[in-house]
Amino acid sequence: MKVAIVTGASSGLGREFVKQIAEKYSKLDEIWVVARRENLLEELKNEIGDKIKIFAYDLADNYEELESSNPDVKILVNAAGYGKVGNFSEGNYDEETGMVDINCRALTAITYMVIPHMSKKSKIINFASAAAFLPQPSFAVYAATKAYVLSFSRALGMELKDRGISVTAVCPGPVKTGFFDVADPDKKTPLYKKIMMAKPGKVVQKAINDSAVGNELSVYGVKMNVFRVLSRILPHRWLMKLSTKM
Ligand SMILES: NC(=O)c1ccc[n+]([C@@H]2O[C@H](COP(=O)([O-])OP(=O)(O)OC[C@H]3O[C@@H](n4cnc5c(N)ncnc54)[C@H](OP(=O)(O)O)[C@@H]3O)[C@@H](O)[C@H]2O)c1
Repeated sequence: MKVAIVTGASSGLGREFVKQIAEKYSKLDEIWVVARRENLLEELKNEIGDKIKIFAYDLADNYEELESSNPDVKILVNAAGYGKVGNFSEGNYDEETGMVDINCRALTAITYMVIPHMSKKSKIINFASAAAFLPQPSFAVYAATKAYVLSFSRALGMELKDRGISVTAVCPGPVKTGFFDVADPDKKTPLYKKIMMAKPGKVVQKAINDSAVGNELSVYGVKMNVFRVLSRILPHRWLMKLSTKM
């Protein structure tokens, strides 16, 4: 049985991934969707059909259940994740440490459990972020977790190359999803981020195309590609000061 697994499938980029995968990969028998909000996963199932198999879990403490059958996993999309804007020392303990649990630990655990079920031409797509390119004051833990995802994905891609399994780290800038409702309920997100918001459909389309040709990185849009280059050549201290002022 050929399956795709998508975490963070209840909203935003994960949800968009499920829709585009269902359209583009008609040979998949099932798409396993993971998130806490079961009602939103049910809605997705009603929209897409019986191919959708729901796993309504909190990834902070429950992912072993995914191991319930022995599928041939052709696509794994790790999209579950969240960020919290604000100074680390003033933040909530559970929210700050929870970012590490979901963005890093759960992603690592699921990937570890799924790889033995993957075959040649299978694909892993991990959501990092453009935040991975540069430390971000007032978004410190989030940016650090995404730097982990980017580093992990690139190294894993090299390890799995001979097995014919590709790993793509998706590094978008700000995207118009529910992400900022969680990250910034007090609406402190800087104006420049709001202006730069990309459409989820476009980001996912590029990620699928990049993964199809085995690219290790997927960076949507000219601005984020410029940002990536700048973050490689300019001193990070300058860029951090600039972003703090903005
Ligand atoms: N939007 C952006 O600007 C942006 C930019 C760069 C990278 N990203 C990354 O892209 C990925 C998707 O984000 P998004 O923009 O689509 O945000 P979103 O709309 O808020 O979606 C986040 C998803 O993660 C799931 N999730 C969060 N905590 C979970 C937990 N404890 N257990 C299980 N599922 C959990 C949520 O489902 P439930 O709440 O139903 O559990 C939801 O489906 C994230 O990794 C994010 O860091 C986003």
